[in-house]
Amino acid sequence: MDIIDKIDISRLPKHIAIIMDGNGRWAQQQGMDRIFGHQNGVQSVKETVETCAELGVEYLTLYAFSTENWQRPKEEVSALMDLLVSTINAETPVLQKNNIRLAAIGDIDSLRPNTKAELEKAIAETAHNTRLTLILALSYSSRWEITNSLQIICKKVQEGKLNPENITSDLISQHLTTAAFPDPELLIRTSGEYRISNFLLWQIAYAELYFTPKLWPEFRKNDLYEAIIDFQSRERRFGKTSEQINP
Ligand code: IPE
Ligand code: IPE
Ligand code: MG
Repeated sequence: MDIIDKIDISRLPKHIAIIMDGNGRWAQQQGMDRIFGHQNGVQSVKETVETCAELGVEYLTLYAFSTENWQRPKEEVSALMDLLVSTINAETPVLQKNNIRLAAIGDIDSLRPNTKAELEKAIAETAHNTRLTLILALSYSSRWEITNSLQIICKKVQEGKLNPENITSDLISQHLTTAAFPDPELLIRTSGEYRISNFLLWQIAYAELYFTPKLWPEFRKNDLYEAIIDFQSRERRFGKTSEQINP
């Protein structure tokens, strides 16, 4: 029996989010520099996107660059931005062919003008696609996002457009950069680190967390299948009792 046959296609997570970690360590294992690891991580991105589309996952969010990652050495930041632009350019036709829509969350205005322009072009070109929405988290951190949303909400209150009593959990969700997407149901982190690193803190309130020791450049189709199979073995209770879930 192939591993894919263990997946119940009728119970797929609608939205998978991934903290793609371990590129630097993978490169170091090969005696190469960290940038080599980022370059090889692109293959894992391609395979993951393709697999999600084939299975019928509707949303895939990839943590590609955090607010805190700006503090890395200048050469590494620069290489990551160049890689982002070259990958977007090379892959946009593939996204089109596979009916995949590109989207981005994060402080997009903080990207270099050419990076931002290429990204926005690819987002516009793929806007009508309907199969899978691929969301890149770029210059993203959850605390940045929540702070930003608070500023917008407070301004509305100040201008008399919003009554504080009408600030609900849903209203807060609508002011995050993820407003157009459902919350992730499965969060995967590679590289054996057990932390969230400022990713989607609000949105993962009830996500199932899955950690794998695999480094991101080694992450393959079967690793994604295994994460989904593990997800499907969990009982998601949302605060209720097991008996309430299975009457
Ligand atoms: C993840 O791999 C990619 C980014 C954060 C951009 P790392 O570059 O963090 O690799 P490690 O964790 O140092 O091995
Ligand atoms: C998280 O990885 C950010 C991305 C995967 C883009 P990091 O490597 O930056 O996280 P920490 O520093 O280990 O927490
Ligand atoms: Mg890391």
